[in-house]
Amino acid sequence: MPLKIAIAGLGTVGGGVIKALTDPESGLAARAGRPLQIVAVSARDASKARGFPVENFVADPLALAKSDADVVVELIGGEDGIAKKLVETALANGKHVVTANKALLAKHGAALAVAAEKNKLQLKFEAAVAGGIPIVNTLRESLVAYDVQAVKGILNGTCNYILTEMEATGASFASVLKDAQKLGYAEADPTLDVGGGDTAHKLALLSSLAFGVTPDLSAMTVEGIEHITPADIHFASEFGFRIKLLGVARRTQSGIEQKVHPAMVRARSPLANVDGAANGVLVDAGEAGSFFFSGRGAGEAPTASAVVADIVEAAGGAASPAFGRPAASLARLEPADGKQAVSPWYLRFEVLDEPGVLALIARHLAEAGVSIESMIQRVRAPGTPVAIVMITHETSQASTERALKAIGASDKVRARPCMIPMES
Ligand SMILES: NC(=O)c1ccc[n+]([C@@H]2O[C@H](COP(=O)([O-])OP(=O)(O)OC[C@H]3O[C@@H](n4cnc5c(N)ncnc54)[C@H](OP(=O)(O)O)[C@@H]3O)[C@@H](O)[C@H]2O)c1
Repeated sequence: MPLKIAIAGLGTVGGGVIKALTDPESGLAARAGRPLQIVAVSARDASKARGFPVENFVADPLALAKSDADVVVELIGGEDGIAKKLVETALANGKHVVTANKALLAKHGAALAVAAEKNKLQLKFEAAVAGGIPIVNTLRESLVAYDVQAVKGILNGTCNYILTEMEATGASFASVLKDAQKLGYAEADPTLDVGGGDTAHKLALLSSLAFGVTPDLSAMTVEGIEHITPADIHFASEFGFRIKLLGVARRTQSGIEQKVHPAMVRARSPLANVDGAANGVLVDAGEAGSFFFSGRGAGEAPTASAVVADIVEAAGGAASPAFGRPAASLARLEPADGKQAVSPWYLRFEVLDEPGVLALIARHLAEAGVSIESMIQRVRAPGTPVAIVMITHETSQASTERALKAIGASDKVRARPCMIPMES
């Protein structure tokens, strides 16, 4: 019996999936143990020229959930709306679901996992995190013997591309973003990417798989890369670091800490060497050791590769829980108090080059219990703003923020002070 597949969404990913499934040379049927047959497809515009075969087009995507398909593949996107309705209806009607939609799963993953389990169906989402990198199945099925201690990832290609280009050219965030938009590396509205929201969606899914918790965006602190300057990147390199936007989830004594933020990463570490639009994920799997994965995190073929792998697995029919554990056993996340997390910090102050400014900074840092390991002030320009950069000894985020708030209130400080944690 063929596996009957219905695909909603014929854009970048949907197109790649159709090309892979209809490639006569692919040998996918042999891997699946049965023929793979696309029985229906849907998108917004029936008449759009797409550059791949579009057969059995159905105007209403929801009709796919009521068709005779065994698997509904949701590649429309969006955390609510038609994508949510389609996945819910498909699961209610006994169809396996494959999706690449991290926004949907980060918000509704727990409820959808319950719905899938109730009907003994598969809900698969390998493509939703880090595109072609098989990190979802790795956390769900492979690294299960020992408790995962931490997952750290470069999960957004747009941010990584921008930071890599800023380092290579010395150009500002705004100017690199503009070029990235022209080249198609950034969306017209880049907020979700550069503000860290997209990384947060993916981190919520990785946390759930790694730690057995409900995906929960409200338990996460999120900071983007808009405030990173070429000077920060330059100073990072002087200290032997590179700046990366990381999603970090780790076990701490007070719970699971989840944060998205720019971080100084040691230049020789694997994560620091994930360049351009690539993604990378480091898993500390306790006694099993650390494992590093990198590769293309987006684009037609890498994302289609992950979607097709899920479809082939669905052909086997055996349902396993979406997040690796029965949905009812997923714990509500007890968020750790991230403000108490301790690390060395990179601090940058834009200050007027006047006598007494350094003493003011030192006094506020000392009052908050923050001690300085090293300091750089290169340019002397009396009366005009200059950058003072400091690296602190290990100290809590709360103490460092307290000091920076007091320093930032001075009229000698010309911009909001910048603080970036230095990853161990
Ligand atoms: N692109 C990537 O590299 C990548 C990587 C990982 C995950 N993802 C995820 O994969 C999903 C699809 O992304 P994509 O890049 O392929 O998006 P896309 O190129 O924008 O394609 C979206 C598709 O959905 C269709 N669509 C949109 N609204 C619709 C509606 N109301 N009713 C019916 N069809 C509708 C569009 O129809 P028309 O073509 O007729 O306009 C289009 O075919 C998203 O969840 C995304 O987050 C993408």
